[in-house]
Amino acid sequence: MKLTKRMLQFAFLLLLSISCVLSSSQPEKPFIQCLLHQSDDPTISNIIYTPKNSSYSSILNFYIQNLRFTSPETPKPKLILTPVHESQIQAAIYCSKIHGLQIRIRSGGHDYEGSSYISEVPFLLLDMFNFRSISVDLESQSAWVGAGATIGETYYAIHKKNSSFSFAAGNRPTLGIGGHISGGGCGPLVREYGLAADNVIDARLIDVNGRILDRESMGEDLFWAIRGGMGANFGVILAYKIRLIEVPEKVIAFKVRRTLEQNATKLVHKWQFVAPKLPRRLIVLLKIDSVVSNDRSGGKTIQASFLSVFRGDADELLQVMEEYFPELGVMKEDLKEMSWIQYFAFYDDHPIEDIVQILTSRVSTSKSYLKAKSDFVQKPIPEEGIEKIWEKLFEEDPLAAQLQWTPFGGKMDEISESETPFPHRAGNSFIMFEAIFWNGTDSSLAQKHVNWIRELHDVIGQYVDKNPRGAYADYRDLDLGVNNVGETSVEQARVWGETYFKKNFDRLVYVKTRVDPDNFFKNEQSIPSRLAHFSS
Ligand SMILES: Cc1cc2nc3c(=O)[nH]c(=O)nc-3n(C[C@H](O)[C@H](O)[C@H](O)COP(=O)(O)OP(=O)(O)OC[C@H]3O[C@@H](n4cnc5c(N)ncnc54)[C@H](O)[C@@H]3O)c2cc1C
Ligand SMILES: *[C@@H]1O[C@H](CO)[C@@H](O)[C@H](O)[C@H]1NC(C)=O
Ligand SMILES: *[C@@H]1O[C@H](CO)[C@@H](O)[C@H](O)[C@H]1NC(C)=O
Ligand SMILES: *[C@@H]1O[C@H](CO)[C@@H](O)[C@H](O)[C@H]1NC(C)=O
Ligand SMILES: *[C@@H]1O[C@H](CO)[C@@H](O)[C@H](O)[C@H]1NC(C)=O
Repeated sequence: MKLTKRMLQFAFLLLLSISCVLSSSQPEKPFIQCLLHQSDDPTISNIIYTPKNSSYSSILNFYIQNLRFTSPETPKPKLILTPVHESQIQAAIYCSKIHGLQIRIRSGGHDYEGSSYISEVPFLLLDMFNFRSISVDLESQSAWVGAGATIGETYYAIHKKNSSFSFAAGNRPTLGIGGHISGGGCGPLVREYGLAADNVIDARLIDVNGRILDRESMGEDLFWAIRGGMGANFGVILAYKIRLIEVPEKVIAFKVRRTLEQNATKLVHKWQFVAPKLPRRLIVLLKIDSVVSNDRSGGKTIQASFLSVFRGDADELLQVMEEYFPELGVMKEDLKEMSWIQYFAFYDDHPIEDIVQILTSRVSTSKSYLKAKSDFVQKPIPEEGIEKIWEKLFEEDPLAAQLQWTPFGGKMDEISESETPFPHRAGNSFIMFEAIFWNGTDSSLAQKHVNWIRELHDVIGQYVDKNPRGAYADYRDLDLGVNNVGETSVEQARVWGETYFKKNFDRLVYVKTRVDPDNFFKNEQSIPSRLAHFSS
């Protein structure tokens, strides 16, 4: 038989596709070869975990904070790498490109949708927990913090150097620096100092070409993008340099709980007018859940917890509350004096004496099955609206659902929408966090709760600005839209992208196209590159 050119071409294509199939089913083998070969570091084999390794599962699960994603059905990484040197990350990026393994990067593992450790395509998990050095420099009032450090470790390291300083970031001590800051980072100092991302002064990152860049060498566009635009779009964050914030030796906190019988509806309504206007040294946030009640038909009531910390003294706080929010009836007995860091124990109902252990423990004690969503609220929700939310909360078991409303105002009103990728500034009174927690692996149970929170989100949707309805990137929600497994057009990504970033989405696309044109760093909601070619 005479081989025609066409037949040869066909045979070649066939071979090519067979070898593609082979290599995509086991891309980790040549990858490991490449890694060993690339790196002149003989210890690199100590950071490679394959599924056969007896430590693989415990390493994978240690930083999975949402138990939904510990199920056997959840796609698992072909490999876990736990780098200790920057050169190992450079080698991993190089070999991933060659052997077609996607990289997912994990710092603290709190991603609500598990995007830091799950992918539908063969992938490796780059687990950054060894990059957790923290060096505090009091003279320049700044600190370099490794991506794999937790915010709790950071708070404690700063406190130990000088308890008059802290950092503006989130509430939960186990949050990872790498994910938290690169997506924004909102906590008790937000009304005076903005987000964690607003307090970053330098950063170190490894880009798709393996270059180690700092603020100066990465340029202002990329430095802008990794302060709220989600780091995993652009490279591997190694560390952030953060600005320290001065806090008093002692602060005053309170937690006042009011049920429906104690006028919770009216108080929550009023809170919306008051909380964004309070002095900046004061934050009063709201945690709302339904609880068991013997006084009401149905056996449940709503409990609104007004949780506050004030950087001033007790008498002044009582005066301020009397002036702005007398209906809440905060009394001297409600006030507790504590150090700034102790507030992070108080926030979560832990004994404040345990604070050092709480800040330094990397083990999360409150893992759950959960689904979360977010909103930004511009105009106060009317009382009827609040009652509709209560009705919805009553459909779930007591304590299963939780809303947390964190007031903005103050500094947040002064930062322009384009200053960082996080656009939800002036005009937004508060951010609403909506979550449902459950226990158990049953997937129909999970579906029931997920459906419920989508319905709750629809109810809340009547009271917030749409076009686009806002959402917070650090509270990732795949219901907002996802990318294709292959390439995704800018217009398709805009659907979810503008909810998080509004007009800043286009600048993020511009930066992405410049720094990662082939779209190597990918996830369900990664910023697309305009240059990546469509193969399907
Ligand atoms: C219990 C809980 C409490 C929370 N409380 C708050 C709060 O008070 N305030 C608030 O603002 N948010 C809060 N969040 C949300 C939290 O800020 C985000 O989930 C954040 O992204 C977590 O960062 P991480 O490093 O822990 O998570 P990861 O899951 O490790 O990472 C999250 C995202 O960042 C990427 N990423 C991680 N590390 C790197 C890196 N080194 N380089 C590049 N990309 C990286 C990941 O790939 C992923 O896309 C909370 C979340 C949970 C689960
Ligand atoms: C698991 O991997 C670690 C790090 O690579 C290695 O030290 C260890 O020997 C491996 N254990 C097994 C059982 O393969
Ligand atoms: C901590 O910093 C404060 C404010 O700058 C300063 O007054 C104080 O002396 C410092 N304390 C220590 C122990 O260095
Ligand atoms: C509820 O509010 C009303 C006034 O609107 C007031 O008279 C009443 O004392 C309040 N109840 C409680 C328990 O605070
Ligand atoms: C899940 O179980 C734990 C431990 O039994 C319990 O404390 C928690 O309240 C439960 N959570 C929900 C949402 O049912």
